[in-house]
Amino acid sequence: MCGIVGAVAQRNVVPILLEGLQRLEYRGYDSAGLVVIQDGQLQRERSTGRVADLRLKTTDTHGTLGIAHTRWATHGVPSERNAHPHLSNNLIGVVHNGIIENYESLRNRLSAAGYVFTSDTDTEVIVHLIHSHYKNGTCLLDATRASLTELIGAYALGVIALDNPDQLICARRGSPLLMGVGVGEHFIASDVSALLPVTNRVIYLEEGDVAEINRDSYRIFDVSGTELTRPVQVSKISNESVSLGNYRHYMQKEIHEQPQAIADTLESVCNSTSIIPGVFGAEAAAVFSDINSILILACGTSYHAGLVARYWLEEIAGIPCTVEIASEYRYRTSVPNPKALVVVLSQSGETADTQAALNFAMSMGHIHTLAICNVAESALVRLAKLRFLTRAGPEIGVASTKAFTTQLVALFLLTLVLAKQRGRLTEEKERQHLHDLRHLPAASQKVLDMEPLIAKLAEQFANKQHALFLGRGMHYPIALEGALKLKEISYIHAEAYPAGELKHGPLALVDKDMPVISVAPNDVLLEKLKSNLHEVRARGGELFVFADAGTHICEEDGVHIIQMPEHAGYLSPILHTIPLQLLAYYVALQKGTDVDKPRNLAKSVTVE
Ligand code: F6R
Repeated sequence: MCGIVGAVAQRNVVPILLEGLQRLEYRGYDSAGLVVIQDGQLQRERSTGRVADLRLKTTDTHGTLGIAHTRWATHGVPSERNAHPHLSNNLIGVVHNGIIENYESLRNRLSAAGYVFTSDTDTEVIVHLIHSHYKNGTCLLDATRASLTELIGAYALGVIALDNPDQLICARRGSPLLMGVGVGEHFIASDVSALLPVTNRVIYLEEGDVAEINRDSYRIFDVSGTELTRPVQVSKISNESVSLGNYRHYMQKEIHEQPQAIADTLESVCNSTSIIPGVFGAEAAAVFSDINSILILACGTSYHAGLVARYWLEEIAGIPCTVEIASEYRYRTSVPNPKALVVVLSQSGETADTQAALNFAMSMGHIHTLAICNVAESALVRLAKLRFLTRAGPEIGVASTKAFTTQLVALFLLTLVLAKQRGRLTEEKERQHLHDLRHLPAASQKVLDMEPLIAKLAEQFANKQHALFLGRGMHYPIALEGALKLKEISYIHAEAYPAGELKHGPLALVDKDMPVISVAPNDVLLEKLKSNLHEVRARGGELFVFADAGTHICEEDGVHIIQMPEHAGYLSPILHTIPLQLLAYYVALQKGTDVDKPRNLAKSVTVE
């Protein structure tokens, strides 16, 4: 979702801005633009295409101060006139990520004062507002600060002024923004990957921070205007980890990174025969001994991870668990249980709905909170009392893959810790579970070896309009995840059902044109699942069954069996996810869609 890059340097910043935007492409966008000060004027270029199109338009553009943006439309259609940066009176330029909720009243007021609006965006009120203060002789920092006090909503901002050619102002509230510290040059960006070619020394701005940035210096202020010091951190994200290497797409690369990501996430338990609460933070033991239930809040794929965890937490740890979609929970009148552990799951840690849900839970009196997240510096991690960082590494493809499987690993560790604390885990069982976890990287590598087979299978889906995914028990959320992957990157309409629910409605959809994909682990529900599959076959539905060894489901006309290498017991949902990711990926390849940047979607959904 919208990306910001800005730079103030002695050298031409246009290549830095373009490279940064390119690296933010994964966040999702529909137009791009930049503005620099060139030959005494604000030189702006915008494009509704890709950053590559903007690059073509800017071959003659240069300047030592500039801001750039990729836009994901919220107010106003994707078009050049709505693309950022927005300008006011050819004096002020602004890029913005977030949503200004009171933009209509501000727009009316500014129009009445003579400002002419040239876009449909909420952002344009910000640039005119800053201009209205700046034209009275207020410095750019104070003009920006005065404007911020009038804004209701979320923002990350980059601001420049034509007559102030060595200074960049930035601010954040509710949307991520960081500063990059170079030698005699400074930068801003929505995330660190944009700046890695120029610096890995970054300052993560906090909520309400406003910064005044020059080539050789910077000053950061909090909401009340007090100057403060924020630490300069050296980002551990390497340039290599965000490059594509020999893979065709980031999604393919990230699917293949899963064995390593799982191994890295397991690092805290890799040499031990027992697991301790401390892996969730120093205060975890005290918190865990004070809880009597779990409330998981998340969106999308992360929500699916929560759904799997419910089976584990209730069955293995014997602790009641509910899982809610964050965007629903935040507006629902629920009954808070102060003894519940609120667990928020998020790849990015910046998802607006999940953040708001956590804030809402806290406002209702929840004190025990845990964030399971892939981004150490994210807002969610900072907000929660306890934290567990998945070690998936940067996930660039919009469709989440390695973040999901590593979330599952973290949730299984949580299950074991709670089971132990509640006296439900014998030493022997604990050792066995840890052994199974340590085997996961090797087991998932074996599943990845199925890639050529699945690539071939995908050919049969390319001309389908719909698909049905079935699973039972803890594999039902995996069916949901498989359907989500297929729909988001191949645009095939896909739905998932618990297999036992088929005859209560969706069976009516089944005919020869409806492929039915089933997750068939060798578990207690296998015989029930087989009956459900017969119901499909009897209606002429073509079955694609991802079956564990020993399931004895026979290949026959209309029934395709895809043999899984091994059955992983409780960890089976993790292994069964991988072929469904590969299936979605190869169907998308067949259909020629933009795999890493599917239409209308954004990587981190920082608006509601
Ligand atoms: C789907 C996908 C999304 C995210 C959702 C939450 O592939 O990636 O459904 O899971 O937007 O994002 P995070 O996990 O960053 O909170």
